[in-house]
Order: sequence, then structure tokens, then C-alpha cells
Amino acid sequence: MVELERVVAGYGNTADPTTVLDTLSLTVPDGSITVLLGPSGCGKSSLLNLIAGFLPLRSGRACVSGRPIAGPGADRGVVFQDDALLPWLDVLGNVALPLRLRGLPRREREERARHFLGLVGLRDQAGRAVWELSGGMRQRVGIARALAADPEVLLMDEPFGALDALTRERMQELLLQVWAATGKTIVLVTHGVEEAVFLATDLVLLSPRPARIVEQLSLGFAHRFAAGEPARRLKSLPEFVAARERVLGAVLAFEDATA
Ligand SMILES: Nc1ncnc2c1ncn2[C@@H]1O[C@H](COP(=O)(O)OP(=O)(O)OP(=O)(O)O)[C@@H](O)[C@H]1O
Ligand SMILES: [Mg+2]
Repeated sequence: MVELERVVAGYGNTADPTTVLDTLSLTVPDGSITVLLGPSGCGKSSLLNLIAGFLPLRSGRACVSGRPIAGPGADRGVVFQDDALLPWLDVLGNVALPLRLRGLPRREREERARHFLGLVGLRDQAGRAVWELSGGMRQRVGIARALAADPEVLLMDEPFGALDALTRERMQELLLQVWAATGKTIVLVTHGVEEAVFLATDLVLLSPRPARIVEQLSLGFAHRFAAGEPARRLKSLPEFVAARERVLGAVLAFEDATA
């Protein structure tokens, strides 16, 4: 579980501070897909970076499984918007890298890396160069790499933002399959309202900067997909459309307020 209690964080120095997160409190339940949605520049990436341990706290409390966050750690895996793969390593080498850094013997780390490549549907691509892969495949390698280190929480900042619409839908489904298979807790930032409503078990709507939580919704579409209902059918259900329109209305209200 990730617990943030009245966290304050931002950029700049004490003489000229910019506050991006202002006494924000949030609990990310174990096994949830907590999706952060909010206007551009409101502080979504900052919030994710705070949980990742990249952005320090100015005040408040931030914990993962009861341990205070004091910097990056193997208990939190990060999937970036651009895949951040190393071009001089092949697919298997990229996925096994965190395990290599941890000192795992070659056989063991490659076995583990192959397992997670299988989970994202890339078992046969282990020996390929990363620059030979499509954007969607590269993102899947990034997910496999983050999972290989067996983090408690997977942090994803607009992981499908750079993909075309069709690949994006496939990746949403893949993410839910991975979630169902691993039971990982996921915190995901997206700009896509439909994506947010489909993926979130817990949807967190943030205000313009400094980010405040305006609304939190519990949603059941991810669970229903994991239980076997097809994605396209779920997305066309009246209750899905109603949730999507409601969230879209809230997001657009911010745009109007700041226009
Ligand atoms: N390294 C930095 N130094 C100074 N200011 C920063 C830095 N990173 C972000 N900011 C500022 O903090 C605010 C929040 O940025 P953040 O990237 O967290 O927003 P976001 O919600 O992720 O936006 P987007 O949806 O566009 O990705 C913005 O005003 C941004 O300009
Ligand atoms: Mg961002």
C-alpha cells in the first residue's frame, strides 16, 4: 500500500520555491490500479515521481508498505512514457538488466526475464535488438523489465501516450492481463479519459496546480475485463459511457475555468 499524508513538494530553491503538491493525501490500496487524471501541468508526473523517490518531500509523510520513501528503490518499478530501453542490449538483456545490477547469476536472471517476456507476449523476441521493435513492443519490454525486478508497486507515467489508437487499446488489455496474472499494485498517469475509466479500479481526479484531489471513483471495468468480458463490449456499456462522460465533464470544467 502507498500512503501519502499531507505531502508538500515542488521545485526551485527555498528563495524561489514552486509548490506543485500542496498537502495532498492519497492512499493507493494493494492490488488496485490507481489512475491519476488531471489537466496538463497539474502535477501528475510530480506525484508519480514522488512515489518513485525521485522528487523529495518538503513536508508530510509518504510510505510504501509502511516504510518511508527515502529515494528510488526496488520495491517500486517505473515504466516511462518513452520506453527508456538501452539500445546496446538486446530485448532479453534489457529485461534482465535490473536483475544483473542486483547481482543475480546469469541463468537465473535470464530465466526470470524470459518469464516476464512471455507474460507480455514477447517470448520469441528475446534475442532481437530493441531498435528493431515497434513502439508497442518496446513499451511491453519496458513493462517486462519493471516486472522482472518484482516491485510491490508499478508506476506508469502515460505509458501508452506515444502509441497509435489501436496499439493503445491492445496495450490497455495487455496491462489488465498482466495485472490479473501478477496482482501488482499499479499507479498510472494518463490523459485519456476512456483509458482511465477502463483501467482504473480507483480513479483519482486532480485539480489544476497545486494538485488537489477533486474526486475519487471506484470503478469495476478492469475487474470485469479480468473476469473475461471483452474490452469493446465493456466500453460500449451504458454504465461505461456514463462514467466516461461524467469524468470528461469534470476534466472539461477545469479547462473552462482556466481558459
Ligand atoms: N524539473 C522541474 N523543475 C521545475 N518545475 C518543474 C519541473 N518538473 C515539473 N515542473 C513544473 O511542475 C508543474 C507540474 O508538472 P508535472 O510534470 O508534474 O505535471 P503533469 O500533470 O504531469 O503535466 P502533463 O500532463 O503535461 O504531463 C508544472 O508547472 C511544471 O512546469
Ligand atoms: Mg506528466
